[in-house]
Amino acid sequence: MTGGCPMSLPTTRTTPFDPPAALAALRAEEPVSPLRYPDGHVGWLVTGYDLARAVLNDARFSVGVMRSVVGHPVETPETLGASDESDALRGRMDFADAPEHGRLRHGQLRHFRISEIGRHRDAIEHIVDEPLAAMAQLGPPVDFVHAFALPISSLAICHILGVPGTDRHYFEEPTSLLMDPRSSYKDRAAAALDFRAYTERVIGEKRAEPGDDLLSELIGYEDFDDEDLPGIVQLLFEAGHETTANMLSLSVLALLSEQDGWQRLHGDPAAIEAAVEELLRYLTIVQTANVRTALEPVELGDVVVEAGQSVAVSLAAGNRDPVKFSDPDALDLRRDARGHLAFGYGPHMCLGQHLARLELRIALAKLVDRFPSLHLAADAGEAEFVDDERFIYGVRNLPVTWLE
Ligand code: HEM
Repeated sequence: MTGGCPMSLPTTRTTPFDPPAALAALRAEEPVSPLRYPDGHVGWLVTGYDLARAVLNDARFSVGVMRSVVGHPVETPETLGASDESDALRGRMDFADAPEHGRLRHGQLRHFRISEIGRHRDAIEHIVDEPLAAMAQLGPPVDFVHAFALPISSLAICHILGVPGTDRHYFEEPTSLLMDPRSSYKDRAAAALDFRAYTERVIGEKRAEPGDDLLSELIGYEDFDDEDLPGIVQLLFEAGHETTANMLSLSVLALLSEQDGWQRLHGDPAAIEAAVEELLRYLTIVQTANVRTALEPVELGDVVVEAGQSVAVSLAAGNRDPVKFSDPDALDLRRDARGHLAFGYGPHMCLGQHLARLELRIALAKLVDRFPSLHLAADAGEAEFVDDERFIYGVRNLPVTWLE
């Protein structure tokens, strides 16, 4: 409880799976509480499920300011490879309000609908088969993150966009550097320039030689102009690979840490679907939504958010709200976890959610089938978690093993 005094965003975790405990106390006592942001200004933090949805679905809150609730900015013009803020925001639906947001999202939505994503099932199955075979060939133990999770999410976004899988290091390296709070500002700005140069190169190549893929469609879409494209494509690369890779690795860690968690999924697609939803809720790897700014005074619970004030929504705290989910701190693989906030809510709800689900379901089903005896390796206790200062929660390495 803050007692009206602004506190900094709680970030210290005491277990790998639970959000910082202080968030639960805030949710119970003061679900809209004063928050001191890293640059010193004071705004609000929302921790309750219903209030979180109310903010995320309210057009009186803008996303168009690049602010962060953690130690480093979500983005700055320089870390987007741009010279000023308006250039940096071009094409970025995550930082656009209506009507610009609708223009950018509408042009891509069709390709990310559940039916359209379903058309990629065979390709994703094929993508999953490769690292699976490589893992088997390598033999135990392996680092699950690099052997399996990262290749799958990166190759899936390469496939959707229509760029060669061998390009993955062009976006994996800069995004990992950009998201790492340990990187210097100079290194992040340099990585952003490399990333922008790569994006511009693939757009140029695709323009010269279009194919049957999303990138060619985006280039040909009449509502997008040339200046929009680098931001659009960069966001898809960025949003599309680290999130799913972290989700996959943490899911495997959570399942292997549960009694019978792994075995329960064997040969049961319905159980896998339910488990994926519950894992999304339980792990909530995008811990906090992009900071919103009130455009006018808004009543929120017991407080009035004044125009210009910042609001951070803790998706992790909302997903553990007992008002919505009974026994919310338990991982219950049989629960109906639909309605969780792991993909956000409202107009900015994750564009790639059906792709992420498809990847997670196929990857887990094939893993359980191929490696029924998978378990954590002896040194799994030394797995390094992605620092709690970060926006996205994850794990850098995860040693796993199995019986051959
Ligand atoms: C498990 C994996 C993923 C998780 C947990 C996740 C989570 C989220 C969340 C919470 C938001 C909303 C943030 C906010 O409102 O401030 C979001 C937005 C977005 N996500 Fe995802 N995401 C995942 C995978 C993907 C994938 C695979 C793609 C693309 C291929 C993608 C593309 C996007 C885009 C473009 C947005 C911005 C949408 C908008 O502003 O309208 N995401 N994601």
